[in-house]
Amino acid sequence: MKAAGYGSASGKIILMGEHSVVYGEPAIAFPFQATRITAELEPSVENTLFSDYYSGPLTKVPAHLHNIRQLTEKLQEALRCGRTNLTIHSTIPGERGMGSSAAVAVAITRSYFDYMEQTLTEAELLHYVNFSEKIAHGNPSGIDAAATSGQEPLLFTKGQPFETFDLNINAFLIVADTGVKGRTRETVKEVAHRFQQAPKSTGKLIKNLGLLTQAARQAIIDDQPTVLGQAMNEAHKQLATLGVSNQTLDRLISCARQNGALGAKLTGGGRGGCLIALAADQQTAQEIATALTHQGAHATWIQQLGVVTYA
Ligand code: MEV
Repeated sequence: MKAAGYGSASGKIILMGEHSVVYGEPAIAFPFQATRITAELEPSVENTLFSDYYSGPLTKVPAHLHNIRQLTEKLQEALRCGRTNLTIHSTIPGERGMGSSAAVAVAITRSYFDYMEQTLTEAELLHYVNFSEKIAHGNPSGIDAAATSGQEPLLFTKGQPFETFDLNINAFLIVADTGVKGRTRETVKEVAHRFQQAPKSTGKLIKNLGLLTQAARQAIIDDQPTVLGQAMNEAHKQLATLGVSNQTLDRLISCARQNGALGAKLTGGGRGGCLIALAADQQTAQEIATALTHQGAHATWIQQLGVVTYA
């Protein structure tokens, strides 16, 4: 056992395929290295947590952090580890569709294995992260766990081995935080409910989203940013019909399009959280980011696709 344990993970962005990925359709996601989370462990007489959201005994964490408590207890039992102080530092905005709940689970699991000097396989990591994600989200597809623990973009299909996928397209992606908490648990549940009530129309929307992910994949392979932008616009329309957008997202997405975006859509669970927009060049990307900030976006990031190294 070491004197201290350390683990980290990145945020994630879903380019295409949120929600439909829960139903077996493919999705494209990438680790978003501009946002990171770290977990540090040291021995303690009682289990405590220090974070931006809560500091104090682990037994008294608020309900939305129960995943952290249960994951910690599971890891301590499995690794026969004593009680700890767990300190979390994060630049991943919480509940914004950037995978913060999966990323925290990745960082915590890595920190325990580091502390106990045990080798952690990818399968073990995903086992613990998916355990935590089930508490946080109810019915996760596993895409957040895969994208926040890895180094490369993914073409992800639930239950299948990950396929890495180069986002080699000559364009810029703007990520903008609406500042409104997303509601992944709620929207995933509501889509499931909609599926039960109206299987035909919901199934069609999900199938369409899957086809749009395939079209986006081909546009990236062929380096056709305009076609990718169109697929993003169409995906947002389908997601809005599915009921997972909201007025703030729709307003900021229109703003991005009016300011030159080739396409724009929500990303992640929706009903708040973040949106993404595609721009042909850096100047347009900056203009879009500025316009979104003027319209109330809380934070924006610009990522050049194609030349990013994911190491
Ligand atoms: C959340 O980031 C993505 C969703 O598709 C849920 C999931 O895949 O677990 C909405």
